[in-house]
Amino acid sequence: MKVLVIGSGGREHALGWKIAQSPKVTKLYCAPGNAGTAELAENVALKADDLKGLLQFALTKKIDLTVVGPEVPLCAGIVDLFEQNGLRIFGPRAAAARIEGSKVFSKEFMIKHGIPTAQAGIFADLTKAKAYIEAVGAPIVVKADGLAAGKGVVVCQTKAEALAAVDQIMGAKEFGAAGDKVVIEECLVGEEASIIAFTDGRSVIPLASSQDHKRVFDGDQGPNTGGMGAYSPAPVVTERLMEQINLDVLKPFVNGMRQEGIDYKGVIYAGIMVTKKGPLVLEFNARLGDPETQPIMMRLKSDIVPILQAIIDEKLDDRLIEWDERAAVCVVLAAGGYPGNYAKGDEIKGLERTDQLEGVMVFHAGTKDEGRKIVTNGGRVLGVTALGGSIKYAIDKAYQAVELIKFKGMHYRRDIGKKALKHEK
Ligand code: AMP
Ligand code: GLY
Repeated sequence: MKVLVIGSGGREHALGWKIAQSPKVTKLYCAPGNAGTAELAENVALKADDLKGLLQFALTKKIDLTVVGPEVPLCAGIVDLFEQNGLRIFGPRAAAARIEGSKVFSKEFMIKHGIPTAQAGIFADLTKAKAYIEAVGAPIVVKADGLAAGKGVVVCQTKAEALAAVDQIMGAKEFGAAGDKVVIEECLVGEEASIIAFTDGRSVIPLASSQDHKRVFDGDQGPNTGGMGAYSPAPVVTERLMEQINLDVLKPFVNGMRQEGIDYKGVIYAGIMVTKKGPLVLEFNARLGDPETQPIMMRLKSDIVPILQAIIDEKLDDRLIEWDERAAVCVVLAAGGYPGNYAKGDEIKGLERTDQLEGVMVFHAGTKDEGRKIVTNGGRVLGVTALGGSIKYAIDKAYQAVELIKFKGMHYRRDIGKKALKHEK
């Protein structure tokens, strides 16, 4: 069968890598892809948000299965569009993807269906939003309603910061209409974990747990990023906690969607804060996490294609999903300046030296093949991912591989996985 993966990050390289291993797949395309996907797929010069172009391509090439990585095309209705044209596509439709596309919808959904989350106020009026901040005080978290490329959440330590954040979002419209409304919520304290699950709208099956590292610098310092590294499994998610999250979050999510008359098929990602009061949902995403998908795909033993097919056909079954017992760790190598402004076009050296390392995959994100060399082409450039008998071994192996790679301005966190080790002691 012919498969098309949409997106260009480390997540899509990892997905493509896994899909390409399926004996069912005869041809793989990636749109737009990167220098890593080019090694296992044919890259197609269509952007992830070019819905009409992608539809035309899929119809012309008679694509049997399309797999969508990022949230933007999902929220824009790519699944609806492909289905209307008789194409098979993996992911939630636009009405379902609102769980990520609107933080107001998501918060109201959680409250209505009893899903544990932070206390919050929802505002469409700047003056009322400010009055709420004055009344509640800091620390407090301000979230733009709509999609803002991961920049719409501001964790504020002071009232002044929170007032400035609502001014930026609702007043100056920094994110356009995404800032017409805001969610202002209690600042939660605890350890974060990513709980990503497959659902066909009836069954919901959690994937292996994982943890992201959002802040740019070691020790969770500095501004938020798309994610500087991840590992799986996350020992903070004990078996008991996973069971609790399954019962209190995932199952009510799926049942709630059905009650709302929304057919939710694809991936549901719950960003969880493990607090003293138990697990609380920080956010829902309608897609796989990046970088979490990189260690997760390394650990997925089963062929992924029958799983994706079963979800589309509403026949998801946990016998389809088997995990490698080993741990996997992904260290993101970022361009100088990221998450602020960064350069592109710098040559990446040493990639071939990592090929000899067993159990190591260097997933590409912002990279471009320029024929004789591979150059940087984005903020997060590579995801160096390693399997190991324990988190500790996987960390060591990932950093060994990192040592072999160089590009101008390259920076990365040196403490990926450290939190997991604390739990293992
Ligand atoms: P979100 O996109 O909602 O997950 O927010 C991005 C990041 O902001 C999360 O991963 C957390 O690190 C942080 N965050 C979001 N909501 C809260 C909250 N209520 N309390 C503390 N941190 C939060
Ligand atoms: N790694 C966080 C996300 O994918 O949203």
